[in-house]
Amino acid sequence: MNSASAPGPVDRFGRRFRNLRVSLTAACNYACTYCVPDGKRLLRADRELDAEQMLRAIELLVAGAGIDRLRLTGGEPLVTPKFDYLFPRLMDLGLEDVSLTTNGQLLGPKVPLLAASGLQRINISLDTLDPKAFRALARGGDLATVLAAIDACLDAGLKVKLNMVPVRSSNRSQIEPMLRYALDRGMELRYIELMRMGHLSHSAAFDQDFIGMEEILALIGEHHSFERTEAPFDSTARRFAVAGGGAFGIIPNESEPFCSSCTRLRLSSEGDLYGCLSSSAHQALRPLLALPREEALAQLPALLEATLKAKQPVAFTGGTMVMKFIGG
Ligand code: 5AD
Repeated sequence: MNSASAPGPVDRFGRRFRNLRVSLTAACNYACTYCVPDGKRLLRADRELDAEQMLRAIELLVAGAGIDRLRLTGGEPLVTPKFDYLFPRLMDLGLEDVSLTTNGQLLGPKVPLLAASGLQRINISLDTLDPKAFRALARGGDLATVLAAIDACLDAGLKVKLNMVPVRSSNRSQIEPMLRYALDRGMELRYIELMRMGHLSHSAAFDQDFIGMEEILALIGEHHSFERTEAPFDSTARRFAVAGGGAFGIIPNESEPFCSSCTRLRLSSEGDLYGCLSSSAHQALRPLLALPREEALAQLPALLEATLKAKQPVAFTGGTMVMKFIGG
């Protein structure tokens, strides 16, 4: 669908919603230090949508907002039984792409089912290959389980992207080893610059722990030659091709903000629409879920317009929201 014919609002920067990211639950079996300051795991949000409501919400957005790509996130999307209910149904919506971001802890046993349902690609969050550092950072789960799940995905023919958040005080020394690990297995590693979210939004810890694109590239450059390649228009990642084969990406939230081409719409596990990670402004979709479809579709444009207005014009400015509530 091209922009002119797709439903849904367009803002004065030409941005419209195209990618929907759905946080199935705020619960997570990790408590990563950069995400959860108090180390509490598995906490759901207060009033989460059930699986049936979630499905309705997603169907509504697909029909009324011009969404053609969907990503399931969390929290951790695999800790909730909602995932098993939703996933096959979402695969049947006829979207260009359905995918998920997971920490991999509960993934291994689900891989055959996911691959059989038609999943093509998956993003797995992994911040270190060192078991001790893993425990200190994730404060839950275990590294060997994630590595086994990654192998299972590769064996099943899935395209795997790894997400790593470089944090100076914890995994800086893993920046190159993680790349080597990914390249050896034909995976694309994506470094996500630390974002000023939640407890990091106004904290000196952010400045101490932040590692920017330039430093990441310098560390990689000590071992590999690479060159920057073209990325698709609404991709958040800067991509680099490595001499000798393979590629990696950097999501440079701070170094090279990409807000001007952002096409993301987020649905929280409580049924609220968010247009931007920098803004806690949100619109409740829940009231529409009880309405007849035609009526819900008639009310949706006003919500989407308000949601689109929350997008930052230029750069991510930080946000008090915690990633586990809004979805990565
Ligand atoms: N900055 C950058 N990335 C973050 N994530 C969670 N919190 C932050 C943050 N403050 C990442 C997770 C996961 C993805 C969904 O978001 O590590 O890979």
